[in-house]
Amino acid sequence: MSRITASVYTSHVPAIGAAIDHGKTEDDYWKPVFAGYSFSKQWIQAQRPDVIFLVYNDHATAFSLELIPTFALGLAAEFSPADEGYGPRPVPIVQGHPELASHIAQSVIQDDFDLTLVNKMDVDHGLTVPLSLMFGQPTAWPCRVIPFAVNVVQYPVPSGRRCFMLGQAIRKAIESFDEDLNVQIWGTGGMSHQLQGARAGLINAAWDNRFLDRLIEDPSGLSQMPHIEYVREAGSEGIELVMWLIARGAMADVAGGKKPIVRHRFFHVPASNTAVGHLILENASK
Ligand code: DHB
Ligand code: FE
Repeated sequence: MSRITASVYTSHVPAIGAAIDHGKTEDDYWKPVFAGYSFSKQWIQAQRPDVIFLVYNDHATAFSLELIPTFALGLAAEFSPADEGYGPRPVPIVQGHPELASHIAQSVIQDDFDLTLVNKMDVDHGLTVPLSLMFGQPTAWPCRVIPFAVNVVQYPVPSGRRCFMLGQAIRKAIESFDEDLNVQIWGTGGMSHQLQGARAGLINAAWDNRFLDRLIEDPSGLSQMPHIEYVREAGSEGIELVMWLIARGAMADVAGGKKPIVRHRFFHVPASNTAVGHLILENASK
């Protein structure tokens, strides 16, 4: 059977992608950001996941106000990097996993979550920047990726509680797939940032670090946090953090198993307008 071996959490700041694409990772400004991922890059080479279930948000790229799916599961064989206004990033095409994605659709929808199924979709920085941070600049991504886009852009957005419950249903789906796959689930976006309005530039490092503490120790309690607290404390784009609860809900301890091992934790301000947070949790092997 397939197993979820680990969850990875990371911010997805587009300027990080530009720094990689333009060879600026050693610049004084960017060096400390990328230093926080050097352990992670070695770790993932050793882990060799077959599939990443990648929870992210589309930034009005594939979707627009014409169509606003709350939860969109990518079933295609391939997903191209999107043109977000400055040409597509020079990164490989994402190879999907249609068989596992179809199985997840069947299981999760029958588990009462209404997913939107997507057979054609370009993927923006929300998905490609986390891949670049973890894998660097390979000519092909080393594993399959199932994109899972969450609406955190246009209100109303899903609650943390619903995201946490959905993660549990996704775990059940993946772990009932009849093939021996090493699967990771990633939660991306955040941490505190606000890109517009009177509070543009807002960062709340104390709140972010408390969020990381609670994500590790008390994800169920954290999932009760109302969306207004994310926005008040972490800025309008801080709401991206609800996506981390999907990945956390898919970890073994939530289903009665052992607590995860904290492999890596990193926090850094600033990167563009955003506080960068990064966490790796591993499920204890049986
Ligand atoms: C920035 C961060 C984001 O999450 C995003 O989607 C766009 C921009 C930023 O920090 O500039
Ligand atoms: Fe974003």
